[in-house]
Amino acid sequence: MTVLFALFSHVASTAAGNTGVSVLLNGFLYGRASGMAPRAQIAVYKAVYPTVGTLTDVVSAIDQATKDGVDIITLSVGPDEPPEDKFTFLNVFDIVMLSARRAGVFVVQAAGNHGPAPSTVLSYSPWAVGVAASGTDRTYPGSLLLGNGQKVGGVGLSGPTLGDGLFQYKLVLAKDAVKINGTFPRTPQYIEECQFPEALDRNVVLGSVIICTFSDGFYNGTSTLTAIVDTARILGIMGFILVANPTYGDFIAEPIPFAVPGIMIPSVADAKVISQYYEQQIQRDGRGFVTKFGARAAIGDGRVSSFKGQAPIVSRFSARGPDFIDIDKNPADILKPDILAPGHQVWAAWSPISALEPTLKGYNFALLSGTSMATPHIAGIAALIKQYNPLWTPSMIASAISTTANKYDISGEPIMAEGSDNLYPSTPFDFGAGLVSPTRALDPGLVLSSGYDDYISFLCSLPNMDPAIVKNSTGELCNHSLSHPANLNLPSVTISSLAGAQLLRRTVKNVGLKPEKYLCSVMPPNGTLVNLNPPWFTIAPQGTQDLDIQINVTQAMNNWSFGEIVLTGSLNHIVRITLSVLFQYPHEN
Ligand SMILES: *[C@@H]1O[C@H](CO)[C@@H](O)[C@H](O)[C@H]1NC(C)=O
Ligand SMILES: *[C@@H]1O[C@H](CO)[C@@H](O)[C@H](O)[C@H]1NC(C)=O
Ligand SMILES: *[C@@H]1O[C@H](CO)[C@@H](O)[C@H](O)[C@H]1NC(C)=O
Ligand SMILES: *[C@@H]1O[C@H](CO)[C@@H](O)[C@H](O)[C@H]1NC(C)=O
Ligand SMILES: *[C@@H]1O[C@H](CO)[C@@H](O)[C@H](O)[C@H]1NC(C)=O
Ligand SMILES: *[C@@H]1O[C@H](CO)[C@@H](O)[C@H](O)[C@H]1NC(C)=O
Ligand SMILES: *[C@@H]1O[C@H](CO)[C@@H](O)[C@H](O)[C@H]1NC(C)=O
Repeated sequence: MTVLFALFSHVASTAAGNTGVSVLLNGFLYGRASGMAPRAQIAVYKAVYPTVGTLTDVVSAIDQATKDGVDIITLSVGPDEPPEDKFTFLNVFDIVMLSARRAGVFVVQAAGNHGPAPSTVLSYSPWAVGVAASGTDRTYPGSLLLGNGQKVGGVGLSGPTLGDGLFQYKLVLAKDAVKINGTFPRTPQYIEECQFPEALDRNVVLGSVIICTFSDGFYNGTSTLTAIVDTARILGIMGFILVANPTYGDFIAEPIPFAVPGIMIPSVADAKVISQYYEQQIQRDGRGFVTKFGARAAIGDGRVSSFKGQAPIVSRFSARGPDFIDIDKNPADILKPDILAPGHQVWAAWSPISALEPTLKGYNFALLSGTSMATPHIAGIAALIKQYNPLWTPSMIASAISTTANKYDISGEPIMAEGSDNLYPSTPFDFGAGLVSPTRALDPGLVLSSGYDDYISFLCSLPNMDPAIVKNSTGELCNHSLSHPANLNLPSVTISSLAGAQLLRRTVKNVGLKPEKYLCSVMPPNGTLVNLNPPWFTIAPQGTQDLDIQINVTQAMNNWSFGEIVLTGSLNHIVRITLSVLFQYPHEN
């Protein structure tokens, strides 16, 4: 059983780090960073180590935190693959989250990083909030300027070569700088990757920009960027370029701080532009040795952020729904992921002595990506909501976060998602309810809540569920079951097998301070007709109201179809309930 890494400092400072902290690396100020809930208190439970993480340790940490009376548990950690149990909801990790939730703890977990294929989520249960990841509008575009005026884009958080592009340096391919008749303990690939300074001729590379090539070592994990930086320092190299290798294809480059000018060129096409220019400019003798290095280049400043473009966009790696109930991936009547938060290139604290990532050793901050980075944003926002509304239960907080989320990007267009090599309009299986909207979540107007007994009733109502299994996993008897699993009072409606007509119910509670009149409207999923009863209602503070949702099939579609219920209040509260339906019968294609 592998366990997703928990990056304590990064995750903790994202949730509750101090406000306005200077992010200073290698003498450069990247800006100021703030945690979501700077005044929240943090309790850290160490359960995972750089080399090993076991599920039993994580489960015991969650148990201890629950006993200690924490309000919120943020889990950027968990099984890295679907459970082998017959039911996803009943695996040991989900059951320990259920006991935390029973004790009144708000539990938030990473959706997983195995996107963008469908049903890759690792968050299954209605009692935990599963978080998907998106990029923000900030990027760090790096650039390489070649002597012939061509500019190539790349990645790397480093300063420019001296002279900032105006002054260019001799460009040397590492292979062409190998010492004649030297003795080398390593393979040629290792030298091309600039891992081994003893193999390179200092007279050739001193003050130059060196081209290192992605190869076996990076592929099998034995070569490091740190070794390239060390090679550059030892030999007095001005800067380095790590280029993609056609043999291995494009690689994924995340912005990493380099203490010397450096840039990664992750695209094979861009790497070819560089090698063509290089080969045109050099002269070789009969044996292939370079007699004249004529190519020149400068590395631009890669540390300057750019705020143009579309945002948020659901990240490619972010795991996708639909949620599923068992190892055969039969779809569940639960929406996963629940919510979207920033998780691509997030600045947060890093322990300078951490052994986890050698390239980050000595730094106090790191720019990291993953649903692990998105999750603590939601934990911090939940802490703010809890502080503002101390009596709210976890499901009320989860409801407030979901019903106020935003489905549109900064330019008012539908939020897009990264596919394997394209962008497409997001569905709830990419972003759940949408991008979290912290200020609106503090004052949602209405909430839909559910409690421990409801989760047991939900488990007991699953198709083919044996009450003995529920008893075995939770210790509870199936006293009640829901008339349909989709009747669990969640802030979303998901029906995985819709045939003919289905009547469901939701109950809302007014958490506002005044009576409010709500108008109920619906954007029905394609192929359905949805009727809401009542069509409008007035609700007193702390009052509750049932809402009957009649969904009739008009034309069965051959895939999931999405819509939403919108309750619009007279005091400007807007409550959105996502609808996802899958039609039961197979149809001709
Ligand atoms: C390298 O070795 C070859 C033969 O072993 C010799 O002819 C040549 O002179 C040597 N070159 C240098 C630079 O030592
Ligand atoms: C990894 O690649 C390096 C560089 O080519 C090579 O020296 C090493 O033997 C490889 N290691 C493994 C475990 O394959
Ligand atoms: C089921 O009934 C038993 C016995 O009355 C009770 O102790 C238990 O709390 C009930 N469980 C649920 C989930 O309602
Ligand atoms: C309950 O658990 C026990 C031991 O863990 C197992 O032997 C038994 O088969 C389980 N029963 C059911 C119905 O899953
Ligand atoms: C509904 O169906 C139409 C036509 O088949 C399609 O263009 C549209 O994107 C669908 N809308 C949704 C929300 O699935
Ligand atoms: C939806 O289906 C129900 C149950 O079959 C039926 O009573 C109702 O009239 C239908 N509503 C519409 C608008 O077709
Ligand atoms: C169904 O929709 C999902 C995404 O919503 C898509 O990946 C899949 O290809 C679709 N399947 C069919 C049969 O259209």
